[in-house]
Amino acid sequence: MLADIRPKPEELARASRSSLGLEPADLVITNASVVDVWRGEIIDRVNIAVKGRIITCVGRCERSRGIYTREIDARGKTLAPGFIDAHTHIESTLLRPAEFSKAVLSRGTTTVFADPHEIANVAGLAGVEYMARELSGSPLKVFLLIPPNVPASLRSPDRGGAVIGYDEILGNVDRFSGVGEIMDTGSLLDGDSVFLEYSSRLAMRQIVQGHAAGLSGEDLDAYISLGISNDHEVTSWEELSERLSKGMIPIVRYGSSWRDLERLYRAIDRFPHIVPIATDDIHCLHIAREGHMDRAVRRAIELGVDPVKAIASATIAPAILYGLHRWLGSIAPGRYADLVLISDLEKVSVEEVYVDGTLVAREYKYLGPEDPIALSEPIIANSIKAPQHLRISLDLPKGCEEVVVRAVRPIHGTTLTREERVRLECSAKNIGEGLVYISVVNRYGSGHSYTGVGVDIPIEGAIASSIAHDSHNIIAVGSSLEDVTSAIKAVIELGGGIVFTHRSKVEASVELRIAGLMSTKSYYEVASELGGLFRTLREHGAEDPEGLLQEIQLLSLTVIPEIRITDRGLYRVLERRIVDLVVGVE
Ligand SMILES: [Fe+2]
Repeated sequence: MLADIRPKPEELARASRSSLGLEPADLVITNASVVDVWRGEIIDRVNIAVKGRIITCVGRCERSRGIYTREIDARGKTLAPGFIDAHTHIESTLLRPAEFSKAVLSRGTTTVFADPHEIANVAGLAGVEYMARELSGSPLKVFLLIPPNVPASLRSPDRGGAVIGYDEILGNVDRFSGVGEIMDTGSLLDGDSVFLEYSSRLAMRQIVQGHAAGLSGEDLDAYISLGISNDHEVTSWEELSERLSKGMIPIVRYGSSWRDLERLYRAIDRFPHIVPIATDDIHCLHIAREGHMDRAVRRAIELGVDPVKAIASATIAPAILYGLHRWLGSIAPGRYADLVLISDLEKVSVEEVYVDGTLVAREYKYLGPEDPIALSEPIIANSIKAPQHLRISLDLPKGCEEVVVRAVRPIHGTTLTREERVRLECSAKNIGEGLVYISVVNRYGSGHSYTGVGVDIPIEGAIASSIAHDSHNIIAVGSSLEDVTSAIKAVIELGGGIVFTHRSKVEASVELRIAGLMSTKSYYEVASELGGLFRTLREHGAEDPEGLLQEIQLLSLTVIPEIRITDRGLYRVLERRIVDLVVGVE
């Protein structure tokens, strides 16, 4: 699926003839300072010739020019290969795939490796097929990967809208350009033989994306032994160093929340051909304000990495990792003419973007073909099947005066949570100081819902979201049951989205009608809605609205310790069991 990017033999033969001067080039870019990612240097004042989609010459290129050859003078500018995102989830941008491709192309990203794990949890392979359909008309080179663990863990009770069986994945894997992240490390550590055989069979067929969060020593060896060659869950130098010495490629993230590059940028300086940068999860407001892979390269340079090395890690390193360096990732003969013209190298100011030798963006404005594909209605209409009559309340014993309950405390700045015991007055109308209600409502028609208690989630009012990893039920966190209820109702009415309510009034919202994950609106409209939500949250006292939203959306993720809230109850991750809310009654 969107798999084979290899050029046709006749294209290569024509390119070769053009190099020999037997056919004129279609395009010659003159006087450019070219980023040579192979040798790690800039070659000043050279010409680049392009025939069809292919670069045919880097040098003087005198034999390439004909009377119909178009010339572009790049004097004083730097020409870099198109940026490659080694690992991303398109859904996290909140943009539909067609808008995503325009947004990232306008920033110089010409290739992405996309794991549609989120939509697969909502809509199964039908959701993945929808992503492929929308992307098929775009000049962006997309390697769409089949998500191997849907749900993330078969051992937890959490279920989204789809379960994709191992047989179904194995039956479809060859239609895709690779395999997404293998994240069911619980099954690995249990030595589950079905899981081990399944994962290794996938790795024999395609390159698998790793997700070895927290693994080290022999546990990491066991993961690598399955045939998994890379890992983007690397957060410390020790983890990076261990993976490198074991021949596993660490991918360094610079997204919206995961900014491992801040700590690991020295790896780019030392191993620019080996260590790729990736966004993993980045929302559209960041892309609009700061950029995509250009933002990551810029940040690496700001941290002190040599610009050529920073560009290498965003171009040739991912191409080598996926075995595509013959076609992608450098400005050299035989490669696709995917090029970024940069006016200020230190600032990575993207002036023009070319894909296959054709201009697709200028000054951050997309100029390529418009998406001819209409939105797929079933994917939109089926996204929310929540109960009509909501009853959101804490389930406390009848006649009690005071209870001790298990509460969920997020560990800020991480994805972890801790269990904490707190006292509640049974008859009190409002929850105690410093506490909030957390509700999860199934949105796939099962009728399940559950309400628990959270600690240290500072919010006045309520936030509800149909993005709630990984099952993407509706999650809501708020200071009153009225606000929680009204926020959930507003998400249902929107047909999916993120809503903030205060005193039961909707103060801000982001529409996400496509599978409850992505917006039907344009790139700039979605970025503006998200900006409005963060601004409103800030006005209501949230110091870090982005971090707050992210924390809320991760409260139901049952693969990361310690305690999570699902539509079926409180779940302790390491014991893999549902536990009671109330632990003491007075
Ligand atoms: Fe990921």
